[in-house]
Amino acid sequence: MKKLVIFASGSGSNFQAIIDAIARNELEAQIAGLITNRDETGAAGRAISNNIPVTVIKDSDPVMLNEKLEAQLSAWNPDLIILAGFLNKIPDKIVRKYHGRIINIHPSLLPKYGGKGFYGRKVHQAVLNSDDKITGCTVHYVNDEYDKGDIIEQSHVEIHPTDTAEKLAARVLKAEHQLLPRVIKKLLT
Ligand code: GRF
Repeated sequence: MKKLVIFASGSGSNFQAIIDAIARNELEAQIAGLITNRDETGAAGRAISNNIPVTVIKDSDPVMLNEKLEAQLSAWNPDLIILAGFLNKIPDKIVRKYHGRIINIHPSLLPKYGGKGFYGRKVHQAVLNSDDKITGCTVHYVNDEYDKGDIIEQSHVEIHPTDTAEKLAARVLKAEHQLLPRVIKKLLT
């Protein structure tokens, strides 16, 4: 059975989409654990409710951070690492070690509206401030630059004239919940 490790520090709805896809037998994989960098996140609550091990790693010292992440990842030995709402940069050493096995989901059609500072509501507000008619979400490999790794797959979402950043975010998030398990399945087979 292929093993997944999820990094998430938000509400964890994408994490939940992975849990659900496994429960529905749409995805043949096991979630070895969740790594989060904040106490009491929605993601951690979902891990606990689903009996998935969760570790909080929030060291500000980069050496300690790297050491703890590496130790936890070695213990869980994942085939694929999924960043699903994890804002901190993954240390370069780990990106190199797991090259081609770390993916991230981003709520825009990268390379548009990506990079440092483009997260959450800011992404969707920037989309609404533009002339774009279409937005969406992207799953890409993680490299040493924010949101710059090779794109694996994207989903498109229409922008409506009455959209607010919140309405658009909710519609993009629904698309993310479809896209992420589908890409994981593709990468595991
Ligand atoms: C998603 O929009 C994802 O694209 C971004 O962070 C958000 C996480 O949402 N990287 P959730 O915690 O999965 O609900």
